Amino acid sequence: MRGYIGKHTALVGALLATTSMASAEDVEVLHWWTSGGEAAALNVLKEDLQTQDIGWQDMPVAGGGGTEAMTVLRARVTSGNPPTAVQMLGFDILDWAEQDALANLNDVAAEEGWDAVVPDALKAFSMHDGNWIAAPVNVHSTNWVWANKSILDDLGIAQPTTWDEFVAALEAVKASGKTALAHGGQAWQDATILDGVILSTGGVDFYKKALIDLDAEALGSDTMKEAFDRMAVLRSYVDDNFSGRDWNLASAMVINDEAAFQIMGDWAKGEFLNAGKVPGEDFLCFRVPGSEDAVSFNSDQFAMFGVSGDEAVQAQNAMAAAIMSPEFQSAFNVVKGSVPARTDVPNDDFDDCGKKGMAELSAANDAGTLVGSMAHGHANRAAVKNAIYDVVTAHFNGEYDSETAVQELVTAVEINK
Ligand code: BGC
Repeated sequence: MRGYIGKHTALVGALLATTSMASAEDVEVLHWWTSGGEAAALNVLKEDLQTQDIGWQDMPVAGGGGTEAMTVLRARVTSGNPPTAVQMLGFDILDWAEQDALANLNDVAAEEGWDAVVPDALKAFSMHDGNWIAAPVNVHSTNWVWANKSILDDLGIAQPTTWDEFVAALEAVKASGKTALAHGGQAWQDATILDGVILSTGGVDFYKKALIDLDAEALGSDTMKEAFDRMAVLRSYVDDNFSGRDWNLASAMVINDEAAFQIMGDWAKGEFLNAGKVPGEDFLCFRVPGSEDAVSFNSDQFAMFGVSGDEAVQAQNAMAAAIMSPEFQSAFNVVKGSVPARTDVPNDDFDDCGKKGMAELSAANDAGTLVGSMAHGHANRAAVKNAIYDVVTAHFNGEYDSETAVQELVTAVEINK
């Protein structure tokens, strides 16, 4: 906008400057949406803001789960130059709120009636001390499996409904010479698998005790050992080159008929859709077998960092209002693979996986089986999350057997909680 003004006469420039003062400013947005599907969803946001004359400065930091983005954010804040709007997850939002770094969004929240439409599970992270501090753009969940339909059909494999059936299906694919489980060996991806495996192994109450309450007995239990044993079983079905692979490249293996399954949050669906694949025809989406009654969720929210100047604040508020509009929530989440963060958005435009996701989120919310994802910062603070990541990854890579992993887990959580 400012560069554009510079190319015009002083008079026009002055007029535009006046207009821009009233309504327009740039927002600098720090995010980790860098895969093909994520970029497609990000475009929906960029274009929406463009129509409202809000300029966009892109600050992408690659790395699923946002660990790298959060490191960059810390450096920017420390050097006194925070970005205006930041994609953030769960407890990270609360951490910054406690440091008084976030803008107060109460006015826009009141004007737009957020209180009535944002579910409590999300408000727990969008609000702090009774103030709105972030605008939730979506709800993702992690306990999903994405499957290549033609591989399953060719091998006569039905969609697995129990853990044992799932393992039998993995075994049949492996025997056929294809990769059974597409996975990327990165700590956050290993942890993402663990969310679903713990739900499937121990159920929702066990998940809550172990990962949310950090109960030492649950963390050190035989059930936790069994969960690690299941992780070791999954490890035996990934290909030799899994180490360090990005999650979207693992999704591409399923998309391109190289692998049968991926356990990943529903951002994976964004990759399938971006590749022109159709749910039910080309790919299947189902919960990690044994975890069907539960939803481990994470919500991407945009937190606004303290900026000076009315225009900048106006742009932040305009962005927050835009993100929360029901039309935007539908358009964005249809592409992203997630579901809306407001309860009043119709499911008409969503595909079958999206409709399933919306219905299951609402059912889990009613039944008390909606739990924050450990892997994506909705179960505990970053220190605990990172401590769990370390143990899970060491075990996945064969450094610890399951017994040792359980002991290490208890100790690591105790030290970091
Ligand atoms: C975010 C998603 C993102 C995924 C992979 C998750 O933590 O919530 O929006 O697509 O990481 O980058």
